Amino acid sequence: MDKNITKLITQSAIRNVVIGLGATITHDYRKRDLTVVCLLDGSLVFTANLLLQIRIPVNLYSIKVSSYEGKESSGVVKYDGRDLEFCKDKDILLIDDILDSGLTLSTVVNDVKNAGAVSVRTCVLLNKQINRQIDIEPDYKAFDIENEFVVGFGMDYNGLHRNLPYIGVLKG
Ligand code: IMP
Ligand code: MG
Repeated sequence: MDKNITKLITQSAIRNVVIGLGATITHDYRKRDLTVVCLLDGSLVFTANLLLQIRIPVNLYSIKVSSYEGKESSGVVKYDGRDLEFCKDKDILLIDDILDSGLTLSTVVNDVKNAGAVSVRTCVLLNKQINRQIDIEPDYKAFDIENEFVVGFGMDYNGLHRNLPYIGVLKG
């Protein structure tokens, strides 16, 4: 689709892993009321695919957060739009595209707890362990990757490539 992108994880590999994750989450939350929170924009595609594999009733909310400028973390997590009042007394599963430095998810986890959630877990499409600056591990993850800047399956570089159906690495 784009000669500047090298395929890293295929669409069918993603699908297989997402089916398994959905089954695990279905089992783990079978006795609770699950509230899924999609961290926009990067996890929109992952959340949509994962939701279809969860076989219990789910409440869905989305919040828009950003910390990246180009290929670098800005070091500050920005919220855009809604507050977190809806988290009160809920079992929250936060879905993000990548756990990288950990700044984004650790900030949101703390804020969701402070908003009165009963429980907070995290689920990520990709785990970039090598870049971690904050002590946080995902409760659920689809894949581990090396320290590469990836695009596709919802993830972007300056707003582009989110619509690639696979995960790829940008050359250069
Ligand atoms: P963290 O706050 O450093 O953990 O960064 C997490 C966020 O940075 C993710 O939600 C992504 O939106 C973005 N991000 C980190 N690495 C990449 C990448 O390789 N491609 C696209 N976005 C990325
Ligand atoms: Mg993101």
